[in-house]
Amino acid sequence: MIENIETDRLVLREITEDDAEEMYKNWASDDEVSKYVRWSTHKNVEETKEYIKAEQERCKNQCCYNWGIVLKENQELIGAIGAFPSEDNIYELGYNIAKKHWNKGITTEALKRVLKYLINNKGMYRFRCSHAVLNPASGAVMRKAGFKYSHDDSAEKFDKSRCFDIKVYYLDIDKVKLVRPTEEHKKEIIEYKEEHFNNGETRIHACSKLDKMDNYDEWLNLLERNSKKDTVQSNWTVTTQFLGVREKDNKIVGMVNIRHELTTDFLKNYAGHIGYGIRPTERKKGYMTQMLAQSLKYCKNELNLEKVMLGCYKENVASRKTIVNAGGVLEREYQADDGKIVQIYWIEL
Ligand SMILES: CC(C)(COP(=O)(O)OP(=O)(O)OC[C@H]1O[C@@H](n2cnc3c(N)ncnc32)[C@H](O)[C@@H]1OP(=O)(O)O)[C@@H](O)C(=O)NCCC(=O)NCCS
Repeated sequence: MIENIETDRLVLREITEDDAEEMYKNWASDDEVSKYVRWSTHKNVEETKEYIKAEQERCKNQCCYNWGIVLKENQELIGAIGAFPSEDNIYELGYNIAKKHWNKGITTEALKRVLKYLINNKGMYRFRCSHAVLNPASGAVMRKAGFKYSHDDSAEKFDKSRCFDIKVYYLDIDKVKLVRPTEEHKKEIIEYKEEHFNNGETRIHACSKLDKMDNYDEWLNLLERNSKKDTVQSNWTVTTQFLGVREKDNKIVGMVNIRHELTTDFLKNYAGHIGYGIRPTERKKGYMTQMLAQSLKYCKNELNLEKVMLGCYKENVASRKTIVNAGGVLEREYQADDGKIVQIYWIEL
């Protein structure tokens, strides 16, 4: 069954036959909505019911996703958004919203959230979207979600009643994978370190003391020692160090440091299970969101953790948002010795 996902204003959830009347009334019976898409206006609620059944079957058999868009404020079902496999590992996204809710940013909110879910929870990285040339508002939604225009084409209604011109957009996400540091990474890691210092940063997050060490081989030895219970330093916690490596060019974009247990006061009251950082030139590209999602999978599947703690300064908006995006729930906040507010979050795995 499809997972529910949420945004500030919306819940995205499965559409069932029980929704047929609301769907029919709100958008499936509206010629204005169907004018620009491939399905034709439904003639009655029975047709909507059949449509929902067919969509449910399709989602079961073909790895498709189809969510109903529900307004949190009154639980009204106001539209649908879906993703289905298209050419060459590309997922095609489509959406419909009841006319009375046009121009409120709802589709953009839903589309951005669905993309985040498909990238971080389902490992999808290539997407396609298209809109009727006569419906430019839909193109604006796509561009706001990061899609780039590719070419013009034409599409036919599913019932072949007519053809219309469309504009086709694509979104290619750069995939970042977590890998353990090795001898091969030496040159690049030295550059990674220098980039932080050149940017005026005196500390490199989640680097297992790389910022304080000059000898790369010693650093690798330290990582190896601290990655095992039998050899970990007496004052340290068993830790797995990862690099975030961008697949297309093998560039190291960030680091993640996973502590297997919360054994010290510092970890329990601030740092938590996962530390992370992105190099200055690669921030704000969604990489940490990807890397945190993969780190959570590692914590669940390899370390058998049921929940993880993450901490950050409240003023570190980027870090706070990254944690909340990954499902972090605020447990407590307090003022640290430096006067700053520390926030402690937990994520259920
Ligand atoms: C915190 C950090 C790891 C985030 O990495 P990132 O790859 O830039 O994060 P993402 O691009 O995945 O963005 C995650 C969210 O933060 C938001 N964000 C990123 N940078 C931001 C900024 N400077 N100001 C406000 N929001 C920001 C993004 O918009 C996104 O939120 P959204 O999806 O709701 O739009 C990165 O800024 C960093 O390395 N900072 C220095 C080290 C650090 O603070 N580590 C964490 C210590 S607790």
